[in-house]
Amino acid sequence: MKFSNFLSLACLSLAAAVPTKRSTTYFGLSLPTQDIRTNLDNSFSSNVPPFFQKLQSTNRVQSSFHVTLIHVTDSKSHSDIWKYYKDLVAKGGVTQVPVQLNHIVWDDRLMAVDVTVDPEGTSGVQWPSTNDVTHTTIGTVNKSVKPVESNDLLVQWKSDGSVIGINDSGVSAISMQNARVVGTLTAF
Ligand SMILES: *[C@@H]1O[C@H](CO)[C@@H](O)[C@H](O)[C@H]1NC(C)=O
Ligand SMILES: *[C@@H]1O[C@H](CO)[C@@H](O)[C@H](O)[C@H]1NC(C)=O
Repeated sequence: MKFSNFLSLACLSLAAAVPTKRSTTYFGLSLPTQDIRTNLDNSFSSNVPPFFQKLQSTNRVQSSFHVTLIHVTDSKSHSDIWKYYKDLVAKGGVTQVPVQLNHIVWDDRLMAVDVTVDPEGTSGVQWPSTNDVTHTTIGTVNKSVKPVESNDLLVQWKSDGSVIGINDSGVSAISMQNARVVGTLTAF
């Protein structure tokens, strides 16, 4: 083996041993798991929808909840927003913000909650999002249904008039009364 080859091999294995800094897939707000679960339980009260029971019994409720603000796939088309969150995280300035949970919306594929970030604007900074409807996904029925579909479901529900009603056919929704949690800005 030539020495230069040996050297590059040695460098490669060295590089593999040093943990590389993972690049950001999305910026979002991580939400406290137990608070979300408690708010869901309180909102359903004694009328737990069969779809939620199904998600629970098949272990398809997310183990942690987040609100996506911008995904890396939008980092070029919305480079200003991407940079904004990158800087905000780097500066370690305002990273906690109230998040209001508005409605639980679901069909036979997934369940999501539309949210309002910083409803009274008390954080002092902006919270732009590239999603049409800012939301958190509660769970999807199986792995082939991706959480990214939540945005489509909520856009459809809103364009159909944001109808409130528990109904296992079509799209169902209930209101969450005064449900608030604290979100933490995170680079995922
Ligand atoms: C996942 O769920 C969807 C919607 O119910 C269904 O159409 C699809 O066949 C399921 N896929 C798997 C792999 O179970
Ligand atoms: C309830 O189900 C009916 C069909 O049985 C449907 O037309 C209606 O849109 C559903 N309502 C909601 C709120 O999902």
